Amino acid sequence: MATGLIRRAISSSAAVAQPARLLTARFHASEAEAQKVEPKASANTDTKKFQIYRWNPDSPSKPELKEFEINLKECGPMVLDALIKIKSEIDPSLTFRRSCREGICGSCAMNIDGCNGLACLTKISPSGSASTITPLPHMFVIKDLVVDMTNFYNQYKSIEPWLKRKNPPPMPGKEIPQSKKDRAKLDGMYECILCACCSTSCPSYWWTSEAYLGPAALLHANRWISDSRDEYTKERLEAIDDEFKLYRCHTILNCARACPKGLNPGKQIINIKQLQLKR
Ligand code: SF4
Ligand code: SF4
Ligand code: FES
Repeated sequence: MATGLIRRAISSSAAVAQPARLLTARFHASEAEAQKVEPKASANTDTKKFQIYRWNPDSPSKPELKEFEINLKECGPMVLDALIKIKSEIDPSLTFRRSCREGICGSCAMNIDGCNGLACLTKISPSGSASTITPLPHMFVIKDLVVDMTNFYNQYKSIEPWLKRKNPPPMPGKEIPQSKKDRAKLDGMYECILCACCSTSCPSYWWTSEAYLGPAALLHANRWISDSRDEYTKERLEAIDDEFKLYRCHTILNCARACPKGLNPGKQIINIKQLQLKR
């Protein structure tokens, strides 16, 4: 890993304990809810403070939380709206990823008040206290809220996320048919947007991210293992039948709690383990 990067670890006990404590209090919008117009400000105040993680590779200083205050009456309802407002009006050097603003691209994944999520689908908390926004945990930080996704994408690539066939298609030049029942087996997996909220909330992934594939890559492994059109099921199972690649999952299910698309990678990992037993 380049020495210019810094890994944002959750090292203090308070930081580790926070996600569970904040789980019920967090304002996490579904995609449908995100479309609704909600009151932007709390009943008591029009302003809101944000403590945002800052680290610049060009500066030798330590990472810090920098406080910004904005008027919520002049801001959209989501955390991403607040970040864009801060960048546009207060500090253009604030760095974060975003693209679609509707929970599709997965690029605005970050840790908001102790929980991983998409900034564009997470409502600004109406509570009077400051919101804390930090990069995805245990990832190398490139700058501010932008983390290095190279290892995560390489792990995704390693499961060969494409249709693999030994035989030509039944009808040359045409798509390979699939029954409705077989297509339904991919539900709960094909919706993944590779945001990494799950993998970076997984304690096993924090400590062995170089070796353990993590919930996102394993969910995709199961997506191709489960595809009736794929003819490499046996080889796919063999490739991940490994103490570290697969069996670092201890079914803690942080991954399911973190997924902004409502998916359950832990359940898909259990399915892979059951198929391994039947081989
Ligand atoms: S269920 Fe497995 S993959 Fe999900 S958080 Fe727990 S250990 Fe990680
Ligand atoms: S399973 Fe959910 S949290 Fe994990 S990468 Fe896919 S969409 Fe993101
Ligand atoms: S900006 Fe695309 S998922 Fe948030």
